[in-house]
Amino acid sequence: MNHPALAWTDKLVLNHAQLDDTHEEFVELLNAFGAALDAGSDALPAFRELLAHTEAHFAMEEGWMAAAGFEPVNCHSSQHAMVLNVMREVVRYATELNDREPLTIVRTELAQWFPAHAEMMDAALVEQMRQLGLDGQAEPQSACCSGSSNCA
Ligand SMILES: [Fe+2]
Ligand SMILES: [Fe+2]
Repeated sequence: MNHPALAWTDKLVLNHAQLDDTHEEFVELLNAFGAALDAGSDALPAFRELLAHTEAHFAMEEGWMAAAGFEPVNCHSSQHAMVLNVMREVVRYATELNDREPLTIVRTELAQWFPAHAEMMDAALVEQMRQLGLDGQAEPQSACCSGSSNCA
């Protein structure tokens, strides 16, 4: 029963080094939290670590959104806010109400939510930054465009 909550696969790679590193860390922290749950040990510290990392992860993306001219509140940032609300509620249930059941539920929810979010919202953000030249990964474009007439 020691399956990882979420496997890191090529499908999650968005070809943006900083974001890919952050996403890989997210998956590792989610799996460490899941492992603590599976082991029957106190999973709250690992979950708090995941929450702190996720706050920074989302703030980083929202900084990029601002630089790319997104509205301050948009579909992507709303999803972030919703997820952080749920995660903070899970901590509150565990600490104030001594109810740890939500910790188990949120593990599955996050493992299902993350790939869809990365492949849709985060991939679109990376594409937008790339189009605006904001991805910080300026590379010679010759290889990709040789022989192509529409290399604008
Ligand atoms: Fe992300
Ligand atoms: Fe995101």
